Amino acid sequence: MSILVFDSGIGGLSVLREARVLMPQKQYVYVADDAAFPYGDWDEEPLKQRMITLFGELIERYDPEIMVIACNTASTLGIAPLREAYPDKIFVGTVPAIKPAAERTRSGVVSVLATPGTVKRQYTRQLIDEYATSCHVRLVGSTKLAALAETYLRGGFTDEAAVAAEIAPCFYEQDGKRTDIVVLACTHYPFLVNRMRKMAPWPVDWIDTSEAIARRAASLALDVHEEAGEKLSRDEAFFTSNDVSAGTKNLLLGFGLRVV
Ligand code: DGL
Repeated sequence: MSILVFDSGIGGLSVLREARVLMPQKQYVYVADDAAFPYGDWDEEPLKQRMITLFGELIERYDPEIMVIACNTASTLGIAPLREAYPDKIFVGTVPAIKPAAERTRSGVVSVLATPGTVKRQYTRQLIDEYATSCHVRLVGSTKLAALAETYLRGGFTDEAAVAAEIAPCFYEQDGKRTDIVVLACTHYPFLVNRMRKMAPWPVDWIDTSEAIARRAASLALDVHEEAGEKLSRDEAFFTSNDVSAGTKNLLLGFGLRVV
């Protein structure tokens, strides 16, 4: 049985990379719902329905041991409905790291950088109400960063001015104190973090949850500590568009995945 890692695009590779390190002997299936990318722009109800139908097909096709929703936009909307629709399956979600940010901030001024979808979710608001009332949290919705990360991953090119413009609202002052933490609440963003660091008006701590998500999956997986043997076959990637460029196939090969 495999570990299925899911995202709307190729951002979830940031989580797959960490999962591989922790569970090298496991078989992986990476699924990108690229036919519907970006998830950040979708209305909630149709996106929820789409995910429930798609996961029904994925369960049928792969019967995964664990499904990691390596996408904040999908998890903050779909994790509860998916667990309800498939109660005997194990789902690991990815949600904005608001609690760790609230615990770690010294200035009490925090930003959460995410897609417009994640920013408007009730789930995200609840995390703030539950864990971060002692600090000031600004939700910053970016319509462009996920696509900028995809362009960077595929071609190595980054429009630094565009990155600077997208992250600019994260940097602000509140009662004489400045932002000291930016939560990367989209799995695409860790791939751009060096550019963000370079373009930031002042240094901050960037919280990336990829490793924590992979650790959570490893804590639920079977036989993680078994001695590593030969894997039976190469890990695979499935793109819902069925239209994957040679460049993307090469990129995925670099992550050890063969596009099917
Ligand atoms: N990678 C997704 C996330 O973590 C977002 C990309 C999209 O907008 O589809 O939120």
